[in-house]
Amino acid sequence: LKRITVAPSNAADDVYDVVVGSGVLETLPELLREAVAAPRFALICDSNVAPLWGGSVRNSVNASGARVDLLVFDAGEASKNRETWAVLSDALLERGVGRDACVLALGGGVCCDLAGFVAATFMRGIACIQIPTSLLAMIDASIGGKTGINVPQGKNLIGAFLSPRMVIVDPAVLETLPDEELRAGLSEAVKHGAISDESYFDWIAENAEQILKRDAAALERLVVRSIEIKTAVVAADPRESGMRATLNFGHTLGHGIEKVLGYRMAHGHAVAIGMALEAALGEALGITSSGTAARIRTVLETLGLPHDLPPEVDPAALIAATSTDKKSRASRVRYALLERPGTIARTSTGSWTHEVTPESVLHLLPHASA
Ligand SMILES: NC(=O)c1ccc[n+]([C@@H]2O[C@H](COP(=O)([O-])OP(=O)(O)OC[C@H]3O[C@@H](n4cnc5c(N)ncnc54)[C@H](O)[C@@H]3O)[C@@H](O)[C@H]2O)c1
Ligand SMILES: [Zn+2]
Repeated sequence: LKRITVAPSNAADDVYDVVVGSGVLETLPELLREAVAAPRFALICDSNVAPLWGGSVRNSVNASGARVDLLVFDAGEASKNRETWAVLSDALLERGVGRDACVLALGGGVCCDLAGFVAATFMRGIACIQIPTSLLAMIDASIGGKTGINVPQGKNLIGAFLSPRMVIVDPAVLETLPDEELRAGLSEAVKHGAISDESYFDWIAENAEQILKRDAAALERLVVRSIEIKTAVVAADPRESGMRATLNFGHTLGHGIEKVLGYRMAHGHAVAIGMALEAALGEALGITSSGTAARIRTVLETLGLPHDLPPEVDPAALIAATSTDKKSRASRVRYALLERPGTIARTSTGSWTHEVTPESVLHLLPHASA
């Protein structure tokens, strides 16, 4: 069992523990009592996770003597919207849930964000405990206090920061996670190694087979190391004003690819391609040491993740998709770039991100001449 304390460097956000270990869910009643003095819990999960893990979690909350209401929403990113937020919030109101209750977000990243946002807004904010069940949620979405929903204008545009009271991570629940979802989470683990720990990066490459076979010890080690890296970054920069941008490695182009493909490609796959391309971009700009992109491609390949831009992604559309400024399609965009695997490159002025011209990116894309 491992405990990682997240102590945000600002006064506004609360300190909380991430408790990690295979079988840790068996001690849920004690953990809940430690984390929060709530007489009542709202257990929120999606329609896939509810039948798999909802029952046992509900029983352990019951065993702790607290009342628990189980609220289930349809699985999938499409549910991360205002409507589901309203349905869940209304259900809490109808059942007479009060300020002293605690939301238990049991599920993947969609549930972390959605249930977290319900907790952040219900009666101006009630306690929330995250119990992530997908690899991506364990090492990424459940940590750092970002909650929110998607709107037609874009993903995660409405939301709030809410530090969870505790994050409870039991890698044993990964047993039921579909292979594709496991792989998607591994993309973020590669990112963690790439931005801050070369030996972890190499360890993932060397242990890919064990990891993909879901060897319990390998998965636990991966989850712990990735959580250590993510928590260190978010504690240093709780409100995303500097260092947290390093977690965007692979994401500037990754998000662009997702957007161009109408969100049909899995986020983890888009980020994998984004990391390979952004490493190559860094090399082309003389910022990233040569050979880095090749090492990234190799580890992605070993994990069964893509690294090449799919032919259906038009380079010009991709460039446009990375720009937040809709009027100026030719604007420069900031990228988190590597110095080498395990080290992020800072600019001469200390910035965590580099301003890159659209030409530099276009240059690098395979079918840019078309
Ligand atoms: N808040 C943040 O900091 C942050 C960071 C990264 C990603 N996110 C968000 O996370 C979301 C993506 O998360 P995700 O990939 O976990 O998506 P998800 O929540 O949709 O989960 C993926 C799929 O796996 C299923 N699932 C989850 N755990 C399972 C288990 N143990 N067994 C069987 N099936 C299981 C889910 O039902 C779903 O079908 C996106 O909305 C993204 O914006 C947020
Ligand atoms: Zn991501």
